[in-house]
Order: sequence, then C-alpha cells, then structure tokens
Amino acid sequence: MEEIVPTGGALGADVRGLDLAQPLDDACFARLLRALGTHGVLRFPAQRLTAAQLRDFSCRFGPIQRGVADRFRDPSVPEVGILSNIRRDGQPIGLADAGQDWHTDMSYTATRGFVNVLYAVEVPMRDGRPLGDTVFANMQAAYAALPPAMQARIAGLTATHDFNVFWERMRARPGSVRAALTPAQRASRPPAVHPLVLQHPISGRPVLYCNPGYAERINELPDAEGQALLETLFAHQLQPEFQWAHRWTMGDVLIWDHLGTLHNAIADYAPDEHRLMLRCQVMAGSIFDPAFQQRWLQAA
Ligand code: OGA
Ligand code: MN
Repeated sequence: MEEIVPTGGALGADVRGLDLAQPLDDACFARLLRALGTHGVLRFPAQRLTAAQLRDFSCRFGPIQRGVADRFRDPSVPEVGILSNIRRDGQPIGLADAGQDWHTDMSYTATRGFVNVLYAVEVPMRDGRPLGDTVFANMQAAYAALPPAMQARIAGLTATHDFNVFWERMRARPGSVRAALTPAQRASRPPAVHPLVLQHPISGRPVLYCNPGYAERINELPDAEGQALLETLFAHQLQPEFQWAHRWTMGDVLIWDHLGTLHNAIADYAPDEHRLMLRCQVMAGSIFDPAFQQRWLQAA
C-alpha cells in the first residue's frame, strides 16, 4: 500500500510507492481523494508517464477541461496541455507564463475547477537548485483563522469571478505576448458567481473561496465596500502561515485541490533555463455529485 507523508508545512503530502502508469485500484483512489481533501496538494515522485497515462489518471477525478486560449496540446492526447518556456524553430512549444500570480484555476466558470495534475518533464536548474517553484495557500486554514465577526460577515455573500481579470493583469506585464481576448473568447468565458464560503466536498470544512486572480466584486455590497472587503480577504488569505512552496524534481506528478487552495507559479528562471510541464485540468463536475461522493467518500 502507498505511504502518505505530510510535508509538515501548511499543506501538501508525498505519496510514496505508487506507479501512476498502472491503473489505480478503487480503494487506492478513494484513499487519494480523501488525502487530497486533507492535504490539498499531493506529490507522486519519480513517475514515468505517457500523455495517455496522465490523462487516464487525471480523469478518475472528473471531467477534463480544455483551456480557453490554450492552443498548446499534446498532438495525440488533446486533454493534455503543455506549459513550457521552450521554443523550437523560433516557436513556443507551450504556454510560457501560466499561473504566474495568485489564483485558482476555473473559479471563473459555473462549474469550478477541482484538480490540476502537473507532470514535471523538465525542471529549470541553476547552481544545482531547482527553479520555478509552485507556491500554494491553504483556504481551509485561512477560513478557520478568520475572526468570527468576519466569518459572520461573509456568510451568504457571493463574488463574481472573471477570467479577463487575470488575463489583463498578465498582459500588462513587460514582455507579455498575450493578446487581448477576442470578443468570442470573452463570450466563451462569461463571469461566474460563487459563494465566498464553500463547504469542502471532501473534508466538509468551510473554505474561503476567493482569489486575487479572478474575484472581481462582491455582489451584495456597494462597489467600494465590496472592493475593500475583497482586499482584506486577499491580504488575509495570502499570509505566509497558510503557504507552502513545492520545489520540483523531474518526474514529479503533483495534484492539487482548487476548491481548497490558491497557487502561484514563481517565474524566477531565464529563457534558457527550460521548464516543461504536462497538465490536465479537472473540473468539479463529479465531486459535487452525490453518487460520486457516495461511491468514493462514504463507502470507502
Ligand atoms: C496551472 C498553473 C503552475 C505552475 O497549471 O494552473 O498555475 O507551476 N501552473 O506551472
Ligand atoms: Mn493555475
């Protein structure tokens, strides 16, 4: 049986003794799902996967989503996206600046993101140290640490999340090659509204569900008051005590729970320090389904 070893930090655990190229038996998958709800991020070291094996592992968690402006896909497995700063014949082979600020994937869609699966094929190194960490923040802990008056204040409030907020922030960076979203791209990603407090479908604990990448306004409050509240919540949720940085090793498969965490990709490497990650983005299309919960969370 696999061994699950917490990092000792604000979140994260190593899962040892599993080869993800092999199909997972049901009891093992149920244990992983629970561990994801508890630890937020799971690392499976020393994997060797084909794109199809990465997809097959990922889709156990739910339906896989293609990104909106995500033109970089595995040629034969379109569910697998490519994140990379590598260029071949002058052309990028992957999305070079994915996730380089605090955010939660797919909070801007009606069906939220649930799990990201990233497989490290190349990790940039300098002086023997890996670069390009991914930092996470624990939103079960962030909610629990809110003063009771603030917990009461945000109960029942909703935030609007818009894909374009993050996109425009990235575009404003020097050297960005992102083009403004076309009207068709914007129409394909209309903003979504979600409660600020979410009951986590695995742990059952309350989660502070908002993020500076996409949350744009509070719908029940006057504009200025809503903005001030969002700024307060962003400052709270990004306190160092809720954070933990994953330092990559080639062959790592990392999965994380979008419903209970925020993340940020650290862009501390140069163009000639190559990073290549294969990614599947799994939506929360199954995890809130009572039949899925019954099968994987209650029965296990
Ligand atoms: C993502 C993302 C983080 C990274 O895949 O959603 O934000 O470290 N990437 O590449
Ligand atoms: Mn992301």
